Amino acid sequence: LTGAITLDPGYKNSGSCQSAITFLDGEQGILRYRGYSIEQLAEHSNFLEVAYLIIFGELPSNDQIVKFENDIRKYSIVNEEMKGIIDGFPKTAHPMGVLSSLTSALTAFNPKVVDAECEKDMYEAVCKTMAKFLVIATWTYRKAKGLPLNYYDNTQPYVDSFMRMMFTLPTEPYDLDPVVRNAIDKLFILHADHEQNCSTSTVRMVGSSHAGLFASISAGVSALWGPLHGGANQAVLEMLEEIQKDGGDVTKFIEKAKDKNDPFRLMGFGHRVYKNFDPRARIIKKAANEVLSKLGVDDPVLAIAKELEAKALEDKYFVDRHLYPNVDFYSGIIYRALGIPTEMFTVMFAIGRLPGWIAQWKEMRINKEPIGRPRQLYVGAPLREFVPMEKR
Ligand code: SDX
Repeated sequence: LTGAITLDPGYKNSGSCQSAITFLDGEQGILRYRGYSIEQLAEHSNFLEVAYLIIFGELPSNDQIVKFENDIRKYSIVNEEMKGIIDGFPKTAHPMGVLSSLTSALTAFNPKVVDAECEKDMYEAVCKTMAKFLVIATWTYRKAKGLPLNYYDNTQPYVDSFMRMMFTLPTEPYDLDPVVRNAIDKLFILHADHEQNCSTSTVRMVGSSHAGLFASISAGVSALWGPLHGGANQAVLEMLEEIQKDGGDVTKFIEKAKDKNDPFRLMGFGHRVYKNFDPRARIIKKAANEVLSKLGVDDPVLAIAKELEAKALEDKYFVDRHLYPNVDFYSGIIYRALGIPTEMFTVMFAIGRLPGWIAQWKEMRINKEPIGRPRQLYVGAPLREFVPMEKR
């Protein structure tokens, strides 16, 4: 009940699972996708290749990745009637709420039920999801900005097409800076899967009832939205901006985070599993320095973030509780430098996490896992007799 997982025969009802996709060791700060270290993949691979690895289990050959890219393009059309759905949202709607709704709506236009036994079915569902989710994710941004909705650019690689759908305007040319593109690609790799986190467990749970892939991912988007989970990357930037507005006194906010009577928490700090360091945070912190200096961006919140990290890690409260920066602490600083608006940060997390959600749903279905049914420890009232109204 303390979260310790014993994969005994009863595990099938405990909400825990067996998986061959991602290995992480919270004590050692180890994260591997299908046995490959996150450090090597972030250094040498690219997001679409890592997505292929996570979903299909092996690094692709050149022919395989070319076919995957082309098959994703084949399914990149989103039904025009989906525009009627997005038009129903106010421009002020949070993109994660719009994304969850649009993802669920994709089922209406792609009703074919995936037969988990059929490899062709499964492959088609993977390509459709990788393609259509990316398009509608950009629509959430374009809608919020009152801009025309763009389509997948079939002449461009996956991540380039994403950036073009997000930022091209009919009135001017769009040059994608390779520094920006490579930073986005690396950030997507670092978010691609993370074992049984809240949103991935949600995707598996919903999928275990044999609900479709779009419906399961829609639920995962909603779970990721929470500020204790993926929503933390937006909350980190808002916290850093608040510290900046307040004069930059990080110690004041560290004391606030330690105050039991104050609900304020240091966003981007702490983790359910990593009790030393989050290996992704290390890579992202280094990338933040590189990207901002290459782009010549001097963002004062980066200095505030570094001072906050340094001061917190000298503080007994944080050290005793094994609270270290997590994946969300520095990612928002890079997103902001790349021109991604704050309200889109968690959508960026969702795009990165998509291959993980797909892979975990696929694994759960192919392994014929039973419907999820966690048990409980009942602590309520013992048996008692009904009390008629006049006696209450
Ligand atoms: C992600 O699971 C995953 O893999 C998630 C993720 C992924 O890739 O999918 O890694 C992505 O969600 C990263 C986490 C992003 N969330 C945040 O940054 C929000 C701020 N952090 C927390 O709220 C918290 O640390 C959690 C939710 C991340 C983890 O919570 P835990 O492990 O359940 O910790 P806890 O709530 O049991 O707290 C233990 C102690 C408590 O103090 P005491 O009661 O012992 O005195 O630590 C304190 C907490 O009050 N604490 C914090 C804190 N986090 C925990 N105090 C101040 N600031 C914080 N951030």
